[in-house]
Amino acid sequence: MSVATKPKRITCPQIRAMKGNTPVVCLTAYTSLTAVLLDDNVDLLLVGDSLGMVLYGMESTLGVTLDMMIAHGKAVMRGSRRACVIVDMPFGSYQESKEDAFRNAARVMKEVGCAGVKLEGGTEMEDTIRFLAERGIPVLGHIGLLPQSVNTAGGFRSLGRGEKEAADIIADGQAVADAGAFATVIEGTVEPVAAQITEALPIPTIGIGASPACDGQILVTEDMVGLFSEFKPKFVRRYAELGRGIAEAGKAYADDVRARRFPTLEHCFGTRQPAKEPSSGG
Ligand code: KIV
Repeated sequence: MSVATKPKRITCPQIRAMKGNTPVVCLTAYTSLTAVLLDDNVDLLLVGDSLGMVLYGMESTLGVTLDMMIAHGKAVMRGSRRACVIVDMPFGSYQESKEDAFRNAARVMKEVGCAGVKLEGGTEMEDTIRFLAERGIPVLGHIGLLPQSVNTAGGFRSLGRGEKEAADIIADGQAVADAGAFATVIEGTVEPVAAQITEALPIPTIGIGASPACDGQILVTEDMVGLFSEFKPKFVRRYAELGRGIAEAGKAYADDVRARRFPTLEHCFGTRQPAKEPSSGG
Protein backbone atom coordinates (compact mmCIF):
# COMPACT_ATOMS: atom_id res chain seq x y z
CA MET A 1 0.00 0.00 0.00
CA SER A 2 1.26 3.44 -0.87
CA VAL A 3 1.85 5.62 2.20
CA ALA A 4 1.43 8.74 0.07
CA THR A 5 -2.33 8.14 -0.38
CA LYS A 6 -3.04 8.08 3.38
CA PRO A 7 -4.51 11.44 4.44
CA LYS A 8 -2.42 13.21 7.04
CA ARG A 9 -3.95 14.00 10.40
CA ILE A 10 -3.76 17.48 11.87
CA THR A 11 -0.97 17.49 14.47
CA CYS A 12 -0.69 19.22 17.86
CA PRO A 13 2.04 21.59 16.55
CA GLN A 14 -0.34 22.55 13.71
CA ILE A 15 -3.08 23.33 16.25
CA ARG A 16 -0.53 25.37 18.23
CA ALA A 17 0.39 27.31 15.06
CA MET A 18 -3.25 28.33 14.50
CA LYS A 19 -2.90 30.95 17.28
CA GLY A 20 -3.55 34.34 15.71
CA ASN A 21 -4.47 32.78 12.36
CA THR A 22 -7.68 30.78 12.08
CA PRO A 23 -10.15 29.75 14.80
CA VAL A 24 -9.58 26.20 16.10
CA VAL A 25 -12.79 24.22 15.59
CA CYS A 26 -13.23 21.49 18.19
CA LEU A 27 -16.02 19.11 19.19
CA THR A 28 -16.26 16.09 21.43
CA ALA A 29 -16.63 12.59 19.98
CA TYR A 30 -17.02 9.35 21.92
CA THR A 31 -17.95 6.91 19.17
CA SER A 32 -16.76 5.88 15.75
CA LEU A 33 -20.06 6.96 14.16
CA THR A 34 -19.82 10.52 15.55
CA ALA A 35 -16.18 10.74 14.50
CA VAL A 36 -17.08 9.72 10.92
CA LEU A 37 -19.78 12.41 10.80
CA LEU A 38 -17.62 15.23 12.20
CA ASP A 39 -14.16 14.46 10.86
CA ASP A 40 -14.36 16.57 7.69
CA ASN A 41 -15.34 19.76 9.48
CA VAL A 42 -13.37 19.96 12.71
CA ASP A 43 -9.69 20.49 13.50
CA LEU A 44 -9.74 18.61 16.80
CA LEU A 45 -11.92 15.83 18.19
CA LEU A 46 -11.81 15.53 21.97
CA VAL A 47 -12.68 12.19 23.52
CA GLY A 48 -13.88 13.98 26.64
CA ASP A 49 -14.53 12.33 29.99
CA SER A 50 -17.91 14.08 29.75
CA LEU A 51 -18.81 10.73 28.14
CA GLY A 52 -19.42 9.48 31.68
CA MET A 53 -22.39 11.82 32.00
CA VAL A 54 -23.48 11.98 28.36
CA LEU A 55 -23.22 8.29 27.39
CA TYR A 56 -23.28 6.46 30.71
CA GLY A 57 -25.71 8.64 32.71
CA MET A 58 -23.23 9.26 35.56
CA GLU A 59 -23.82 12.28 37.83
CA SER A 60 -20.27 13.58 37.34
CA THR A 61 -17.14 12.61 35.40
CA LEU A 62 -15.47 11.11 38.48
CA GLY A 63 -16.50 7.50 37.78
CA VAL A 64 -14.88 7.39 34.34
CA THR A 65 -11.93 4.95 34.09
CA LEU A 66 -8.81 4.83 31.95
CA ASP A 67 -10.12 1.67 30.26
CA MET A 68 -13.32 3.50 29.24
CA MET A 69 -11.30 6.39 27.78
CA ILE A 70 -9.05 3.99 25.86
CA ALA A 71 -12.00 2.04 24.42
CA HIS A 72 -13.78 5.23 23.26
CA GLY A 73 -10.50 6.75 22.06
CA LYS A 74 -9.90 3.73 19.81
CA ALA A 75 -13.43 4.00 18.41
CA VAL A 76 -12.91 7.70 17.56
CA MET A 77 -9.56 6.94 15.93
CA ARG A 78 -11.24 4.25 13.80
CA GLY A 79 -13.94 6.71 12.70
CA SER A 80 -11.67 9.66 11.85
CA ARG A 81 -8.87 10.15 9.34
CA ARG A 82 -8.08 13.84 9.46
CA ALA A 83 -8.84 15.43 12.84
CA CYS A 84 -6.34 15.76 15.65
CA VAL A 85 -7.69 13.32 18.28
CA ILE A 86 -7.08 14.15 21.95
CA VAL A 87 -8.11 11.86 24.81
CA ASP A 88 -9.06 13.16 28.26
CA MET A 89 -7.17 11.73 31.22
CA PRO A 90 -9.87 10.64 33.70
CA PHE A 91 -10.00 11.54 37.38
CA GLY A 92 -7.36 9.68 39.41
CA SER A 93 -5.13 8.83 36.45
CA TYR A 94 -2.73 11.80 36.68
CA GLN A 95 -3.12 13.72 39.96
CA GLU A 96 -1.07 11.46 42.26
CA SER A 97 2.36 12.01 40.73
CA LYS A 98 3.91 13.08 37.44
CA GLU A 99 5.37 9.59 37.01
CA ASP A 100 1.94 8.02 37.43
CA ALA A 101 0.55 10.58 34.97
CA PHE A 102 3.25 9.69 32.42
CA ARG A 103 2.61 5.93 32.78
CA ASN A 104 -1.13 6.36 32.23
CA ALA A 105 -0.79 8.93 29.44
CA ALA A 106 1.77 6.73 27.66
CA ARG A 107 -0.69 3.82 27.85
CA VAL A 108 -3.36 6.02 26.23
CA MET A 109 -0.95 7.14 23.49
CA LYS A 110 0.21 3.57 22.74
CA GLU A 111 -3.19 1.86 22.83
CA VAL A 112 -5.29 4.59 21.19
CA GLY A 113 -2.74 6.06 18.78
CA CYS A 114 -4.12 9.56 19.47
CA ALA A 115 -2.18 12.83 19.06
CA GLY A 116 -2.16 13.81 22.73
CA VAL A 117 -4.00 13.93 26.04
CA LYS A 118 -5.91 16.56 28.00
CA LEU A 119 -5.76 17.04 31.74
CA GLU A 120 -7.47 19.47 34.10
CA GLY A 121 -5.65 21.96 36.31
CA GLY A 122 -3.36 25.00 36.20
CA THR A 123 -0.49 25.86 38.55
CA GLU A 124 -0.91 22.61 40.49
CA MET A 125 -0.41 20.62 37.25
CA GLU A 126 2.48 22.67 35.85
CA ASP A 127 5.17 20.10 36.77
CA THR A 128 3.07 17.23 35.46
CA ILE A 129 2.36 18.92 32.12
CA ARG A 130 6.08 19.75 31.74
CA PHE A 131 7.06 16.15 32.61
CA LEU A 132 4.73 14.78 29.93
CA ALA A 133 5.50 17.39 27.27
CA GLU A 134 9.27 16.94 27.69
CA ARG A 135 8.85 13.19 27.25
CA GLY A 136 6.91 13.26 23.97
CA ILE A 137 3.30 13.51 25.12
CA PRO A 138 1.48 16.59 23.77
CA VAL A 139 -0.82 18.05 26.42
CA LEU A 140 -3.98 20.08 26.01
CA GLY A 141 -4.53 22.06 29.22
CA HIS A 142 -7.89 22.72 30.84
CA ILE A 143 -8.37 25.72 33.17
CA GLY A 144 -11.28 27.64 34.68
CA LEU A 145 -14.19 25.42 35.66
CA LEU A 146 -12.77 21.93 36.28
CA PRO A 147 -15.52 19.28 36.24
CA GLN A 148 -13.25 16.71 37.97
CA SER A 149 -12.99 19.08 40.98
CA VAL A 150 -16.75 19.44 41.36
CA ASN A 151 -16.62 18.13 44.94
CA THR A 152 -13.99 20.57 46.20
CA ALA A 153 -15.52 23.45 44.23
CA GLY A 154 -18.98 22.67 45.68
CA GLY A 155 -20.75 22.44 42.31
CA PHE A 156 -20.61 23.82 38.79
CA ARG A 157 -20.53 27.64 38.54
CA SER A 158 -18.74 30.09 36.30
CA LEU A 159 -15.47 31.39 37.71
CA GLY A 160 -13.31 34.52 37.68
CA ARG A 161 -15.71 37.09 39.17
CA GLY A 162 -13.66 38.28 42.15
CA GLU A 163 -10.14 39.72 41.85
CA LYS A 164 -8.51 36.71 43.53
CA GLU A 165 -10.41 34.15 41.44
CA ALA A 166 -9.56 36.04 38.22
CA ALA A 167 -5.86 36.30 39.18
CA ASP A 168 -5.78 32.56 39.98
CA ILE A 169 -7.18 31.57 36.57
CA ILE A 170 -4.82 33.96 34.76
CA ALA A 171 -1.91 32.36 36.67
CA ASP A 172 -3.26 28.91 35.72
CA GLY A 173 -3.21 29.85 32.04
CA GLN A 174 0.35 31.12 32.30
CA ALA A 175 1.47 27.97 34.14
CA VAL A 176 -0.06 25.64 31.56
CA ALA A 177 1.57 27.56 28.68
CA ASP A 178 4.95 27.78 30.46
CA ALA A 179 4.84 24.03 31.06
CA GLY A 180 4.60 23.35 27.32
CA ALA A 181 0.91 22.62 26.68
CA PHE A 182 0.18 23.04 22.96
CA ALA A 183 -3.20 24.72 23.71
CA THR A 184 -5.61 25.05 26.60
CA VAL A 185 -9.32 24.73 27.12
CA ILE A 186 -10.86 27.58 29.15
CA GLU A 187 -14.17 26.44 30.62
CA GLY A 188 -16.88 28.37 32.48
CA THR A 189 -14.88 31.55 33.00
CA VAL A 190 -16.19 35.10 32.87
CA GLU A 191 -15.66 36.71 29.50
CA PRO A 192 -13.14 39.48 30.33
CA VAL A 193 -10.85 37.03 32.13
CA ALA A 194 -10.98 34.51 29.28
CA ALA A 195 -10.25 37.32 26.82
CA GLN A 196 -7.33 38.55 28.95
CA ILE A 197 -5.82 35.05 29.12
CA THR A 198 -6.19 34.65 25.35
CA GLU A 199 -4.39 37.94 24.79
CA ALA A 200 -1.57 37.00 27.17
CA LEU A 201 -0.84 33.40 26.15
CA PRO A 202 1.31 32.32 23.20
CA ILE A 203 -0.80 29.16 22.78
CA PRO A 204 -4.40 28.87 21.48
CA THR A 205 -7.22 29.07 24.02
CA ILE A 206 -10.23 26.86 23.28
CA GLY A 207 -13.31 28.32 24.92
CA ILE A 208 -16.44 26.68 26.29
CA GLY A 209 -18.55 29.14 28.22
CA ALA A 210 -15.63 31.56 27.94
CA SER A 211 -15.24 34.31 25.30
CA PRO A 212 -15.63 34.96 21.56
CA ALA A 213 -12.08 36.30 21.80
CA CYS A 214 -10.75 32.77 22.46
CA ASP A 215 -8.65 31.26 19.68
CA GLY A 216 -11.05 28.35 19.25
CA GLN A 217 -14.27 26.84 20.51
CA ILE A 218 -15.40 23.46 21.78
CA LEU A 219 -18.85 22.10 22.63
CA VAL A 220 -20.08 18.70 23.68
CA THR A 221 -21.50 17.40 20.40
CA GLU A 222 -24.63 15.98 22.05
CA ASP A 223 -25.41 19.49 23.38
CA MET A 224 -24.71 21.06 19.99
CA VAL A 225 -27.07 18.69 18.14
CA GLY A 226 -29.85 18.85 20.76
CA LEU A 227 -29.66 15.26 21.98
CA PHE A 228 -30.06 16.63 25.50
CA SER A 229 -33.34 18.38 24.96
CA GLU A 230 -34.55 19.10 28.51
CA PHE A 231 -31.77 21.50 29.47
CA LYS A 232 -29.65 23.89 27.40
CA PRO A 233 -26.67 25.48 29.18
CA LYS A 234 -26.24 29.24 28.49
CA PHE A 235 -23.01 28.64 26.56
CA VAL A 236 -24.54 26.17 24.06
CA ARG A 237 -25.97 26.97 20.65
CA ARG A 238 -28.01 24.12 19.19
CA TYR A 239 -27.49 23.44 15.50
CA ALA A 240 -30.00 20.55 15.32
CA GLU A 241 -32.80 19.02 17.37
CA LEU A 242 -31.82 15.36 17.12
CA GLY A 243 -33.24 14.51 20.55
CA ARG A 244 -36.72 15.54 19.45
CA GLY A 245 -36.22 13.75 16.10
CA ILE A 246 -35.21 10.47 17.81
CA ALA A 247 -38.13 10.63 20.27
CA GLU A 248 -40.60 11.31 17.43
CA ALA A 249 -39.11 8.49 15.33
CA GLY A 250 -39.38 6.12 18.33
CA LYS A 251 -43.05 7.00 18.79
CA ALA A 252 -43.88 6.61 15.06
CA TYR A 253 -42.13 3.20 15.03
CA ALA A 254 -43.97 2.01 18.14
CA ASP A 255 -47.33 3.13 16.68
CA ASP A 256 -46.60 1.29 13.40
CA VAL A 257 -45.53 -1.96 15.10
CA ARG A 258 -48.59 -1.93 17.39
CA ALA A 259 -50.90 -1.21 14.43
CA ARG A 260 -49.12 -3.92 12.31
CA ARG A 261 -48.13 -1.30 9.72
CA PHE A 262 -44.47 -2.33 10.07
CA PRO A 263 -42.94 -4.61 8.93
CA THR A 264 -44.69 -5.22 5.62
CA LEU A 265 -43.79 -7.91 3.09
CA GLU A 266 -41.41 -5.50 1.36
CA HIS A 267 -39.16 -5.70 4.46
CA CYS A 268 -39.06 -9.54 4.36
CA PHE A 269 -36.77 -12.09 2.70
CA GLY A 270 -38.05 -15.00 0.54
CA THR A 271 -41.55 -13.56 0.40
CA ARG A 272 -44.25 -16.11 -0.39
CA GLN A 273 -45.36 -15.74 -4.03
CA PRO A 274 -49.01 -14.93 -4.54
CA ALA A 275 -50.91 -18.06 -5.76
CA LYS A 276 -50.83 -18.38 -9.58
CA GLU A 277 -54.01 -17.56 -11.47
CA PRO A 278 -55.32 -20.73 -13.16
CA SER A 279 -54.51 -20.40 -16.83
CA SER A 280 -57.48 -20.02 -19.09
CA GLY A 281 -56.56 -22.34 -21.90
CA GLY A 282 -58.55 -24.04 -24.46
O1 KIV B 1 -14.89 16.26 28.91
C1 KIV B 1 -15.15 17.11 28.04
O2 KIV B 1 -15.97 16.90 27.14
C2 KIV B 1 -14.46 18.38 28.13
C3 KIV B 1 -14.88 19.49 27.21
C4 KIV B 1 -16.23 19.96 27.52
C5 KIV B 1 -13.89 20.58 27.17
O3 KIV B 1 -13.58 18.52 28.91
